[in-house]
Amino acid sequence: MKAAIFREVGQPLEIEEIQISKPGPREVLVRTAAAGVCHSDLHFIEGLYPGQSPMVLGHESAGVVEMVGSDVTYVKPGDHVITCLSVFCGHCEDCLTGHMSLCASSETRRTHEEEPRLSQENKIVHQFANLSSFAEQMLIHEHALVKIREDMPLDRAALIGCGVTTGVGAVFHTAAVEPGSTVAVIGCGGVGLSAINGAAMAGASKVIAIDMVDSKLEMAKDFGATHVVNGNNGDVVEQVRELTGGGVHYSFEAIGLKATAEQSFSMLRPGGAATVIGMIPVGVKIELMGAAFLQEKKIQGSMMGSNRFRVDMPRFIDFYLQGKLHLDQMISKRIGLEDINEAFADMKTGTVARSVIMFDH
Ligand SMILES: NC(=O)c1ccc[n+]([C@@H]2O[C@H](COP(=O)([O-])OP(=O)(O)OC[C@H]3O[C@@H](n4cnc5c(N)ncnc54)[C@H](O)[C@@H]3O)[C@@H](O)[C@H]2O)c1
Ligand SMILES: [Zn+2]
Ligand SMILES: [Zn+2]
Repeated sequence: MKAAIFREVGQPLEIEEIQISKPGPREVLVRTAAAGVCHSDLHFIEGLYPGQSPMVLGHESAGVVEMVGSDVTYVKPGDHVITCLSVFCGHCEDCLTGHMSLCASSETRRTHEEEPRLSQENKIVHQFANLSSFAEQMLIHEHALVKIREDMPLDRAALIGCGVTTGVGAVFHTAAVEPGSTVAVIGCGGVGLSAINGAAMAGASKVIAIDMVDSKLEMAKDFGATHVVNGNNGDVVEQVRELTGGGVHYSFEAIGLKATAEQSFSMLRPGGAATVIGMIPVGVKIELMGAAFLQEKKIQGSMMGSNRFRVDMPRFIDFYLQGKLHLDQMISKRIGLEDINEAFADMKTGTVARSVIMFDH
């Protein structure tokens, strides 16, 4: 099958033929229908997060089940699924207390002694995030997918696989935004726009979108932003304070920068909570005003929107089909696998919400 391979930091991905193994007892072979290009993939290409090589990136996808292992009863060939990197073991402390997105069990992967899921001329090709979606097929643990209704278009379903679950989940689960509260979201990519959409669904009284690209701020209004701030025009924190009379109840950082993570904390009202969704590069520290803790300001991280994806994702599909979740506008471009490097170049300009790779089999 064809896959986009990461070999070296800073180098373009290469489209090559690789081999995929057969499902083990609890594994599922999925034919990839669509895969979104998320900024997290770019962090690994740029070396801001360490990755193994060679590796097939991609982790935001939907597809159709092709073959299942001998012990799999949850899905059968022909079922439509969304994949999720929050693969859960189902019996560790995190899983049993409802924090499945924190499960770190290795038992959902193959061991070094087993044949690798992906290979090329008998040499291992590493799987990214237990998924590797930039490929025509994925071989994954049965706990890395959710079955979905078949009237859901698979390209929009793919977005739910990461960006939507991350952004909406950060609002619903990690921060638990209440109706009437005020929200600011810094960064209006696929993740930030989803957080804005989530805040609007949660009934926030003000949703302030912040970005440096005007076209993104226009998009943000379609996703539910009531106010927009362009980071190029003056002090972002001051403007948020002015718009809210002293700061927001909830802020979300959806970029992955030290400066904007610090802004997310500075723009809180007393008692407010900042949620950092963006992947701050490994080794980077963020600095906060210590005295602000006397005002009970909080800052926290969020992994994949603190999801319980087998519950959340079918609900998000219902929200989309009811017109509440705006996934049509989120797809800026539909591309082929061979256009993947251009999608990353586009991402760096900040002008696209999501590029989605379509696999036409
Ligand atoms: N925590 C998680 O589980 C998780 C999951 C998915 C993605 N992420 C991370 O979320 C972040 C966002 O992902 P994405 O795919 O939406 O990215 P993206 O590149 O599509 O969007 C980033 C947006 O931020 C804007 N921006 C850049 N610098 C800015 C600045 N200084 N001030 C204001 N706006 C600025 C850009 O114009 C763009 O609109 C990334 O760091 C990604 O790795 C985290
Ligand atoms: Zn992602
Ligand atoms: Zn677990």
